Amino acid sequence: MIVAIDGPAGAGKSTVARLLAERLGFRYLDTGAMYRALTWLAMQRGVPLDQADRLAELAEAEPVRFDEAGRVFIAGVDVTASIRDSRIDRMVPVVARHPQVRQVMRVRQRELAEQGDAVIEGRDIGTVVVPDADVKIYLVANTDERARRRMSERPGIGADALATDLRLRDERDAINMRPAADAQQIDTTDLTAEDVVERIEELVRARRAAPSAAQ
Ligand code: DC
Repeated sequence: MIVAIDGPAGAGKSTVARLLAERLGFRYLDTGAMYRALTWLAMQRGVPLDQADRLAELAEAEPVRFDEAGRVFIAGVDVTASIRDSRIDRMVPVVARHPQVRQVMRVRQRELAEQGDAVIEGRDIGTVVVPDADVKIYLVANTDERARRRMSERPGIGADALATDLRLRDERDAINMRPAADAQQIDTTDLTAEDVVERIEELVRARRAAPSAAQ
């Protein structure tokens, strides 16, 4: 079974997807980490971020890998911590925007999805990567709450800078950010991660009970 969790930055995807995967005993796949790792490597190697073909070649040559504990590797380097740097936050939408890069990533994401039960988080999982996912969720939250969550993840950055970053990222990500027509939208603004996970688990149970029924 595949559970797709999409939505904008700060809507709660990672926390919810990780917890849900743990509860269900599914693998957890963070597709944003793949774009982040590629951005990190391109910056390390001095590949200009506007050169789509070179970035796609790099993505092809150096596929992102995850270990059992969810650590992220590219070109043999553990980049789990470095890809959360605010410089990567700012530059990753530039890389993720190129269709050539998305094409390579999509193939890799599908390969990983085909390896069994998984909770997959991203922006275009329910629409493009796994359009036949068994359960599709689109998480949203209001802007203040999303900025507040970002602030607790990035304590070194001021509130104004974070709000600006979030707005710029939304603008840059917008092209890939739309819910699948058959996704269940959940507003997480006033919910705990536990609440959200429980709601999704209910949908998973319903899907298991009636596998061929529409959600
Ligand atoms: O979820 P995140 O912040 O780690 O995502 C990092 C970037 O990658 C963000 O700019 C959106 C982009 N992304 C994407 O375009 N498609 C995905 N499936 C996942 C992430």
